[in-house]
Amino acid sequence: MTEQTKVTDTPATPVKVMPDAQTVTAVTHWTDRLFSFRVTRPRSLRFRSGEFVMIGLPDDSGKPILRAYSIASPAWDEELEFYSIKVPDGPLTSRLQHIRPGDQIILRPKPVGTLVLDALLPGQRLWFLATGTGIAPFASLMRDPETYERYDEVVMMHTCRTVAELDYGRTLVAALADDPLIGELAAQKLRYYPTTTREEFARMGRITDTLTSGKVFADLGIPPMDAARDRAMVCGSLAFNLDVKAVLEGFGLREGANSDPREYVVEKAFVGDGI
Ligand code: FAD
Ligand code: A2P
Repeated sequence: MTEQTKVTDTPATPVKVMPDAQTVTAVTHWTDRLFSFRVTRPRSLRFRSGEFVMIGLPDDSGKPILRAYSIASPAWDEELEFYSIKVPDGPLTSRLQHIRPGDQIILRPKPVGTLVLDALLPGQRLWFLATGTGIAPFASLMRDPETYERYDEVVMMHTCRTVAELDYGRTLVAALADDPLIGELAAQKLRYYPTTTREEFARMGRITDTLTSGKVFADLGIPPMDAARDRAMVCGSLAFNLDVKAVLEGFGLREGANSDPREYVVEKAFVGDGI
């Protein structure tokens, strides 16, 4: 079960005056390690669905602690949504996990990133391949009508260790059905394929394994990946990204970038210890 707080709640901390401050409007705790929150959007902020920005909080001396965060809301949304890990001793998230509606966070309005539709050559089927909080940029892209305008079919593969860690994505995908803007498009074109690896669930297995064994293609009743038709976006740990890249290259897809669109693009969901 999720614990949700709304704007009507009393702020836990006094509102401080900070540069680039935005106000928290809602917070949802999904597990003891995961939460999502929404903040006001600066009027001047334009971004492409899938990009990330730097957000943060001041430390005890008032110095900003800033970290990269994918914007999980689509480009048309009036607010901004983020989906976050809680690292127990993490400089930012040990504080950020306590935010309440009415609190302020710092948001540097300079969006960047490679997980954007323009970084891919035109194709028919788009794959979103994510582990853990790596679903955040795809939470944005899944809610953007342009994704469905450009592709006949969109497959969202998300893998976590446990079922509860899938909850944010499962809730988001379920809500798409009632979305007046995207509901019909998503119903026609979005295929959602969540799996777990360490807890019993309807579908299990690592993304790399279900792609190489062909299980995901068989389950969805579609042909294997083909560079002429399929495009992919990847977001997970460094190890995941490297392994998925090898699988995609095996299907003949080549890595692209904003300046050089090709068949797939990759972004780190976080920078790991010692990397
Ligand atoms: P840090 O000192 O930054 O991290 C401590 C350790 O925690 C890391 O070494 C790593 O082992 C682990 N860790 C950090 N982030 C994660 C994570 N997301 N999942 C699993 N383990 C992690 N984080 C998000 O929660 N949501 C996002 O949308 C997001 N987008 C990012 C986009 C980019 C391009 C990059 C590079 C990182 C992104 N991150 C995201 C990670 C984020 O920048 C921070 O690392 C995270 O918020 C933890 O901050 P911290 O200061 O508490 O700990
Ligand atoms: P597994 O449980 O088999 O390690 P983590 O919580 O460690 O970031 O992992 C998130 C999910 O990503 C887990 O389901 C994990 O599977 C999977 N995973 C981790 N590393 C890889 C990898 N190199 N290739 C494919 N899947 C991975």
